[in-house]
Amino acid sequence: MKNLAFLIKYIRYQFSAKTAHGIHSPFVFQLYNEVINHKANYYAFDRIELLRNKLLQSNDEIEVKDLGTGTSGKRKISLIAERAAKNKKYGELLYRLVNRFKPEIILELGTSLGISTAYLASANPNSKVITIEGCPSTAGAAKKCFEALGLKNIESVIGNFDFELKNVLESGILASASPSSGGRNQESRIDFVFFDGNHKKEPTLNYFTQCLEYAHNDSVFVFDDIHWSDEMEEAWEEIKKHPKVTVTIDLFFLGIVFFRKEQVKENFILKM
Ligand SMILES: C[S@@+](CC[C@H](N)C(=O)[O-])C[C@H]1O[C@@H](n2cnc3c(N)ncnc32)[C@H](O)[C@@H]1O
Repeated sequence: MKNLAFLIKYIRYQFSAKTAHGIHSPFVFQLYNEVINHKANYYAFDRIELLRNKLLQSNDEIEVKDLGTGTSGKRKISLIAERAAKNKKYGELLYRLVNRFKPEIILELGTSLGISTAYLASANPNSKVITIEGCPSTAGAAKKCFEALGLKNIESVIGNFDFELKNVLESGILASASPSSGGRNQESRIDFVFFDGNHKKEPTLNYFTQCLEYAHNDSVFVFDDIHWSDEMEEAWEEIKKHPKVTVTIDLFFLGIVFFRKEQVKENFILKM
């Protein structure tokens, strides 16, 4: 029944989603053509997808504790890679967004095996990606993936978002000087967040509000699976209404949020 309701939502989205022709905002028009709907191939994509394939073929098992679904027990790496990781299409979009906006401080809620983290981190070597994962053995497996890809700009934090997010935000980790800042210390801030963990309404809104305190005019927030459940849809509606939010883009499997004061408040549903 849930699958049928989801399918209906998807069909509705397909009918209402616009392409470039229906976009009047120059910022969104350009973003759609050059980032969202852009099909360029980058060297990093093949390396990450090769790693994904290895994970999909792995016979290894790890003991998992998923704080999002509340499940635990032995799980095949191949099954985690198949079920949890964002697919190639949306991984590439995350890469293109980072490549476009060049955020220096990127936060990810929900590492799993690190596929989306790898896309985020590969797009801008000058960025620092802080990724939080509640399951220690899954985070351990992700670390091996980062090593295999030679990614050095990722900092893994293990623990429940409910506690670790606050710790990360208040620890000063977000203020570390990046190489491109010439070694100067900066104020704590978040340039980009990918929310991909707990897909429930209250936690999602809670993490959003916490991160918002560190956001600025050019921050970009990306929410996974905004139509996955009624709770996620309600959370998305509240996020869209927030007075600090100006432009939102609904791509069905992802929602992108901007705070740019120079834009009029407008919610877009776009085809991808
Ligand atoms: C959908 S997966 C992330 C997939 C990953 N972003 C990707 O696309 O490759 C969500 C992850 O969030 C973790 N998670 C869910 N709720 C959490 C919480 N409250 N605290 C910490 N981790 C959590 C789960 O253990 C799971 O590994």
